[in-house]
Amino acid sequence: MTSCVTCTEATNLRYGPDPDPSVICLSTSSIAPIDAQSVVGIIDIEIDGQAATIDTIAVLPGTSRRGVGTALLNHAMQLLPSTVTSLDAWTRGDAGANAWYQKFGFRENFRYLHVYLASGDSLDGFAVPKPLSKPVTAFMHAGSEHEEHMRAAYHRVHVCRQYLLPVAGGA
Ligand SMILES: CC(C)(COP(=O)(O)OP(=O)(O)OC[C@H]1O[C@@H](n2cnc3c(N)ncnc32)[C@H](O)[C@@H]1OP(=O)(O)O)[C@@H](O)C(=O)NCCC(=O)NCCS
Repeated sequence: MTSCVTCTEATNLRYGPDPDPSVICLSTSSIAPIDAQSVVGIIDIEIDGQAATIDTIAVLPGTSRRGVGTALLNHAMQLLPSTVTSLDAWTRGDAGANAWYQKFGFRENFRYLHVYLASGDSLDGFAVPKPLSKPVTAFMHAGSEHEEHMRAAYHRVHVCRQYLLPVAGGA
């Protein structure tokens, strides 16, 4: 399920006469023709039984903090099937994204680490098949209790957070 909001609608969100802006909705079953130049935000939600996950939400730079993201999510939530009982989303370190989810009412439910092996990082514990000499790169998951150790050994460590919002009956 994907929704977009256009520039005109975005302008109306905070500054225009319409307090309840309409949002153009796209889905795999009905794709409305829109002018791509005017799209300022997009949301993509994946539904798996009772659980829904925000795969993508983004607004165009220059239109942030004008209610576009909030309008997109409010609208998308109205389109959720009534079987959905929870909506989640995953973030890394972006302070703005974390603040936005919290402001919307999401609560952090779980966190773990994304760890990348890069040049200059510790190779302790890695093994490679012959004739290779060493790993070039690696992407690892680690428990958040290992954050101090991971940051000491690897340059690139991200805290990955799951945000959760209970949903009471959708469309
Ligand atoms: C996250 C994102 C979708 C928010 O959309 P938005 O339209 O800018 O947000 P809204 O206008 O709906 O913000 C509502 C409230 O959330 C909070 N908020 C939003 N952006 C924030 C920021 N950068 N820093 C702190 N708080 C923020 C504020 O409380 C804001 O209300 P206010 O402007 O009256 O203070 C947008 O910043 C974005 O596209 N970010 C880049 C992509 C991204 O990180 N997506 C999430 C991936 S997990």
